Amino acid sequence: MKTDLSHAEKLELYENGYVIIRNAISSDALDSARKLIFEHLPEDEHRLLVPGKLATHDNVVGLFNDSCLSEILSNVMGPFPPVISCQVAVIPGGNRLGGKPGIHVDGGWSGIIPDNADEIDMETGRPIDGTKYFGENDEIRGTNDGLLWIDENRSLSYGSYTALVGVALNDQKHPGNGQLGVLKGMHEEVERSFRSQRDAGGVIGPEGPGWPRIKIGDDGKPYCNGLPDAIREKTKKLAAAGTPTKEWPWPELTPILLKAGDAVITLHSCPHTPTPNFGSDPRMNIYFRIRRAREGNPNEGTRRVAHGVSDHPDRGYFGQFLEYPDGYDPYQISIDKLCDHWSEWDGMQEIVSERRNPGS
Ligand SMILES: [Fe+2]
Repeated sequence: MKTDLSHAEKLELYENGYVIIRNAISSDALDSARKLIFEHLPEDEHRLLVPGKLATHDNVVGLFNDSCLSEILSNVMGPFPPVISCQVAVIPGGNRLGGKPGIHVDGGWSGIIPDNADEIDMETGRPIDGTKYFGENDEIRGTNDGLLWIDENRSLSYGSYTALVGVALNDQKHPGNGQLGVLKGMHEEVERSFRSQRDAGGVIGPEGPGWPRIKIGDDGKPYCNGLPDAIREKTKKLAAAGTPTKEWPWPELTPILLKAGDAVITLHSCPHTPTPNFGSDPRMNIYFRIRRAREGNPNEGTRRVAHGVSDHPDRGYFGQFLEYPDGYDPYQISIDKLCDHWSEWDGMQEIVSERRNPGS
């Protein structure tokens, strides 16, 4: 069984922000997970999510825990708490996801927002009447769908982890079948955006410099904004320079082409999106969100965090504030990691130092 990435694969991860692992899952494990999901597919075929109880089923979580993926992550990233849950993400055949992919970095909040552009403060992207939408105490606002703020002091407005690991349960070799799409290589730009927010002394994440929380789309409608402005600008240029095709009308995005049993490992900072499924079969992916263990964190491994599915593991999955000892600042540590994402990848250190400090 594969236990680590090759040098070439590590270079791919470094350059592209993701790497594909072929045949990561045994056919038995694949069959049993697929069978479970088919049994539980909702009758309303337009729903994207199958029932939550599947997300903690041994045969589903085992796709990570009992395959080569856990060993590979231990070696390329480092130790991590037990993975107890995951995201079961099904895009039914013919589901167009509302038309346009919503490219984002994981960890943001998306909730009820104003319908009209004139209700938004254009600089911060907050509703002008914030209390109406976020309540009096917006630092506690949010649940498992994302938190408005990670810390009570409102210095960090984005959740984070280390690696997103996706497992394909069906063949997705032809673009346009609901593939995960990524902004290839954009992870370093995302890190730069977090650094520039920190250097400017602002909030890290939305409402911080260069990252309005809500933006106005070309159709004039407000939307929750999962990308810093600098990334959105670069994405527009990539889209304008590329050639859309019928199968893949989003040239800025790279489709992750997998066959059943393949997996993809991406950095948290790699912007991504599900894409419309023009085919007739459901696209079935299982996602694991893995955060490298942090020394001194007394909450590593608590079930309240729901490690494996949560994109905001500094808080409980449902938004609970966790207890931390004096002298341990989980939020500052997360900011430090967002601004230096490779520091959480033990097995990448040699390549990172070679590439970042050539000739030294
Ligand atoms: Fe995502």
